[in-house]
Amino acid sequence: MFSSRFKWNIESNRLAVLLEEKRRAHHRVLDLTESNPTRAGLEYPANAILNALAQAQAMLYEPCPRGLLLTRYAVSDYYREGGFEVDPDHIQLTTSTSEGYAYLFKLLADHGQSVLVPQPGYPLFEFIAALEGVELRPYELSYVHPAGWHIDFDSIVEAIDTSSRAIIVVSPNNPTGSFIKKFEVERLNQICSDHGLALIVDEVFSDYAFVTDDRRAKSLSTNNSTLTFVLSGLSKIMALPQMKLGWIVTSGPPQLRDEAIERLDLIADTFLSVGSPVQHAAPVWLKLRSELQEQILDRLRGNLEYLAKVAQHSPCRLLKLEGGWYATLEVPRHFSEEEWVLNLLQSDDVLTHPGFFFDFPREAFLVLSLLPKSEDFREAINRLFRMIYGFP
Ligand SMILES: Cc1ncc(COP(=O)(O)O)c(C=O)c1O
Repeated sequence: MFSSRFKWNIESNRLAVLLEEKRRAHHRVLDLTESNPTRAGLEYPANAILNALAQAQAMLYEPCPRGLLLTRYAVSDYYREGGFEVDPDHIQLTTSTSEGYAYLFKLLADHGQSVLVPQPGYPLFEFIAALEGVELRPYELSYVHPAGWHIDFDSIVEAIDTSSRAIIVVSPNNPTGSFIKKFEVERLNQICSDHGLALIVDEVFSDYAFVTDDRRAKSLSTNNSTLTFVLSGLSKIMALPQMKLGWIVTSGPPQLRDEAIERLDLIADTFLSVGSPVQHAAPVWLKLRSELQEQILDRLRGNLEYLAKVAQHSPCRLLKLEGGWYATLEVPRHFSEEEWVLNLLQSDDVLTHPGFFFDFPREAFLVLSLLPKSEDFREAINRLFRMIYGFP
């Protein structure tokens, strides 16, 4: 009856069952997996955000596959303020970054062809790729202490075969918090040109860097040596995932870039998925972003500082991170990751993500969101470390 793309077991896993039991019993679960900014106690300028949706022009339906020009200008201004000149005609609006990935898989890969993805990495790729009939080939991010994460280029070369169509880079990566460096971009450009591959660069968290570092490539939105698609959107930049606006910025050798954009237009024309009120509101919203980003960065830094302090001289190791919304804690292996996560929820009402959820190559890691309110975060970390030290 159903397509073979759908290959997942939809029964709840043990963690989901336990969480459901806790919620039914009205336990207050301290959620260190929270990645929904609208539940993180941030102060949104709600009136300004909502009023921007009520513009008279939004009553007109202008079906425009690439998205309204005024919105694409506002996105282009966003890049200009970051130091990158992006032509509004090279911007394609989508409802989300996830939709952007789906468009790019349709654009680049036939059924059964593959894209390379970072490991550890963001679990949603598995679902988007499978629904588009695309295979994933992992390449490794390696961790060296204290330098941090870097791309293992040997693993990229090993993962490439005749079915490969593109390499995905997430900068900073979820959950490792590592940014791509300029020298890594050079090597990737070379590999892409040697093998006829495109680059897909997810920059949704790029505004959330904890410290500056000149070695970092801030954005690949003007990477002209390789056909490159940069994905981003309001769900992280503005902490407004509910508004559903993302985009793809295409760059590369001009002829290839323009052909890719024309084909993207056709894909987008098939769905015309972005709503008019949101497109009219986005230029107003983008001007409000520093107010939100400052709050979020304060929150992330404060929580990270607390975690680093507690983890110091403990049996755990906080892995180095440069940005993003998540931290990775290596915990003693006297439990498996699954046991750590289940025990924490069962006995302490603390919800965390196990490393295997992000395909860490070995155990035992916990991935912790830095977004929760500081009081909740500290309480959850205190409970976590009580368990680590073996106290009841
Ligand atoms: C790396 C990364 N890319 C994309 C997304 C999804 O963004 P969007 O809401 O725009 O689909 C997420 C969401 O957490 C993410 O972590």
